[in-house]
Amino acid sequence: MQDPIVKLEALNKTIDDRLILESISFSAFPSEILTIIGPNGSGKTTILRIVNLLMEGSKGSIVYGFQGLPSIINPKNEKEKILLQRQMHLIFQKPVVFSGSVLENCLICGPLRGLKFTRKEAMEALERVEITHLYRQSANTLSGGEMTRLALARAWLIKPQLLLLDEPSANLDPQGIKLFEELLGVMAEEYGTGIVLVTQDLFEARRISKRVGLLLHGHIIELQATPDFFNKPQKEATKQFISGALVL
Ligand SMILES: Nc1ncnc2c1ncn2[C@@H]1O[C@H](COP(=O)(O)OP(=O)(O)OP(=O)(O)O)[C@@H](O)[C@H]1O
Ligand SMILES: [Mg+2]
Repeated sequence: MQDPIVKLEALNKTIDDRLILESISFSAFPSEILTIIGPNGSGKTTILRIVNLLMEGSKGSIVYGFQGLPSIINPKNEKEKILLQRQMHLIFQKPVVFSGSVLENCLICGPLRGLKFTRKEAMEALERVEITHLYRQSANTLSGGEMTRLALARAWLIKPQLLLLDEPSANLDPQGIKLFEELLGVMAEEYGTGIVLVTQDLFEARRISKRVGLLLHGHIIELQATPDFFNKPQKEATKQFISGALVL
């Protein structure tokens, strides 16, 4: 097996004296889609934000193993942080767009808006998610699903080593979901992108993930290869969650 792109070891996060994440340990690998599911407030977004270095963990460690960089554990300074952030990309639950047109949002994007793309590359990316007709529209006037499509087009252009996705399909229509899932498949298979996906859609998790983890109250209850997770879950809580009986 390849070395992990990122490895979380006993990660805790406390906010205002409340333990939000407790002893989170898992790895994400190149070319793999790992999905995290769990109810509202279980800590999914917090994990993605900590991995993307927008927030610090309170305890435990994160080891980053990006190609072309030495292994870095819990980045100690701004320089290390920027080096790592250049290799990863997070699509937020509410996608962020810059002021300017849809096309402009693709011409210059990426970590710290540091990457430039040609008009041809940008238009091709918009075509993949079927929003070329909107290229002149101001990005902050897009509908929710269109914004998600734009965010996906940018991820496609940036081609990070690690792509973190926070419920992107929540805003997408069935055709958008199909395009999104195809795009993830190509990124993982052709570009070796490691993908950590948060979704509420159990069917999607089952369709596209190699492994699935259930997060409940800040704990990873179970993390297994997808067929095992759905067909022979080990934990009662997983059985209940996937059968639709809410465990809270
Ligand atoms: N900055 C913060 N200050 C206080 N509480 C926070 C903060 N960030 C997150 N939390 C709390 O931590 C818990 C986990 O939040 P998080 O956003 O990670 O949940 P989630 O699993 O992504 O939920 P959802 O499915 O609703 O998106 C929630 O109870 C939330 O209210
Ligand atoms: Mg969330």
